[in-house]
Amino acid sequence: MELRCFRCWSVVLLLLFIPCGCQCISVHILNKQPVHAVPGSNLVLRAQIQHGPLDDIAMVTWEREPETGVAPETVTLATCPSRSFKCTSTRTNVHANWGQQETTLQINGYGDEDGGVYAVTLTDHKGTKTTAHCIVRIYEAVHHVSVSINVTHSTLICGEAWGTDPNFSWLYERVAITNTVGKVSKDGSVLYVTKTPFCGHFTCMVSNKLGYSSATYTAAPCEAEGRGTTAAVVCLVLLLLLFGGALAFLLWRRHRQSNRGQRLQDHLDDAI
Ligand SMILES: *[C@@H]1O[C@H](CO)[C@@H](O)[C@H](O)[C@H]1NC(C)=O
Repeated sequence: MELRCFRCWSVVLLLLFIPCGCQCISVHILNKQPVHAVPGSNLVLRAQIQHGPLDDIAMVTWEREPETGVAPETVTLATCPSRSFKCTSTRTNVHANWGQQETTLQINGYGDEDGGVYAVTLTDHKGTKTTAHCIVRIYEAVHHVSVSINVTHSTLICGEAWGTDPNFSWLYERVAITNTVGKVSKDGSVLYVTKTPFCGHFTCMVSNKLGYSSATYTAAPCEAEGRGTTAAVVCLVLLLLLFGGALAFLLWRRHRQSNRGQRLQDHLDDAI
């Protein structure tokens, strides 16, 4: 039993070591990509290093190049030679670190010019290089929110230009959407309107870490509400007319009575 176990363990160990025979160094970036950095914030990129006991790493290098461009220029940001395990950076706002299992690059006060493809390279003592890349872009605020309608399908589509991680939410007459009004698609950008008749104000609100912006689609005014208001106005006008009429009538009657009184008085005076 023990012998069999020993054999299978040997096989497992052999399988593990065969592909690593020549090169066992690997590196991968732990940040979720692409990384979106808020302007002015501190950006930290972390890379995990794996290596066998024999593959000593001679150098860790952090570099950056623009994401687009005809002849992208590579800039070296930091180098960490294994002799000291200390990293030297080429910029004042850049700091790098190198431990046994991990290397990090920190950029303080992230700016527009810091975007690009970052590369971390491990060089072993034979000069063999292993590299991992990471795209870093600036975190953009929400821009240009708009709502369009697909009349045939009773759907409202919310659009946003280039904000990072936009979150969509819908309001009907400034109140969160309920099932009686409609259903929202999984990503939140489409509202399937179930409310009949299709009327009132539908607002799409788009937000992210930097703020929010909204747009409103105005459908036909809702019937019930419109009819109610009209009826109230008509009633008010009628009441006013009635009141005015009654007042006029009263005044006229009083005037006639006093006139008649005057005439009676005159009559009596004449008779005396
Ligand atoms: C409305 O939506 C349907 C289904 O998504 C689509 O096939 C159709 O082309 C859209 N119509 C317009 C005018 O966009």
